[in-house]
Amino acid sequence: MKDILLEVYDVHVHYGGVKALDGASVALDEGEVVALMGPNGAGKSTVLKAIFGLAPLERGEVRWHGAPILPVPHEIVARGISFVPQGRRVFAGLSVEENLEVGGFLVKDKAERKRRIAEVFDFFPVLKHKRALNAATLSGGEQQMLAIARGMITEPKVLLLDEPSLGPAPKIVKEVFIKIKEISERHKTAIMVVEHNLVSLLSIARRAYVLDKGKVVAEGESKKVVESGILEKVFLGAA
Ligand SMILES: Nc1ncnc2c1ncn2[C@@H]1O[C@H](COP(=O)(O)OP(=O)(O)OP(=O)(O)O)[C@@H](O)[C@H]1O
Ligand SMILES: [Mg+2]
Repeated sequence: MKDILLEVYDVHVHYGGVKALDGASVALDEGEVVALMGPNGAGKSTVLKAIFGLAPLERGEVRWHGAPILPVPHEIVARGISFVPQGRRVFAGLSVEENLEVGGFLVKDKAERKRRIAEVFDFFPVLKHKRALNAATLSGGEQQMLAIARGMITEPKVLLLDEPSLGPAPKIVKEVFIKIKEISERHKTAIMVVEHNLVSLLSIARRAYVLDKGKVVAEGESKKVVESGILEKVFLGAA
């Protein structure tokens, strides 16, 4: 059997009476960028939360190199998985640099942490420029970049990104996606990204999964998935 880096296998998640995931399986290979698509409430965020140990698994498993792992957040981080949740969560009371310090708390060596922060600043010059400012004063796009930058501090093997394009203006969204592409290419980071923007998607993700009502209803090369018309179907509620 091929050794897949990360797999969500037949996962079921219930919230009270709501079935958020109904036997969903997705996979992420070393260094690839994969998109999760689908209408509101389809279960996209729940897939990422399940990987990160933030959703109650009723059935199914999360596998790392083919072996089931216990989805507990600190163990997941220690394996090299980083999660940037929906809604550009930055610590509003802290400066840009302090936000990155917090993101790097697992990097115990202080000099190493400084080195990584410097590297991230090189990657996002706008954040370097505003390093001393309170994160709350950043624009939406800048906060999104900060959230992604914070996720990179641990130098993850896997980056889980939930709707990085939500909020910022199109020009900034484009910039954010160029950065995401660069991250995957430069650091060989495997990225699973929840994305609604088709143009952005095609520019970065080789493969895509379409979720609807907690199930994977299509998967494959992203261009083919888009061309198949399945997205129109699920978004119109006809799948
Ligand atoms: N903590 C929670 N408590 C109760 N219900 C939840 C919770 N989290 C998710 N759900 C429900 O589970 C379903 C899937 O939610 P999820 O957030 O995964 O969808 P999504 O595909 O990310 O949607 P969106 O595009 O709106 O972000 C929805 O019906 C949602 O209302
Ligand atoms: Mg969501």
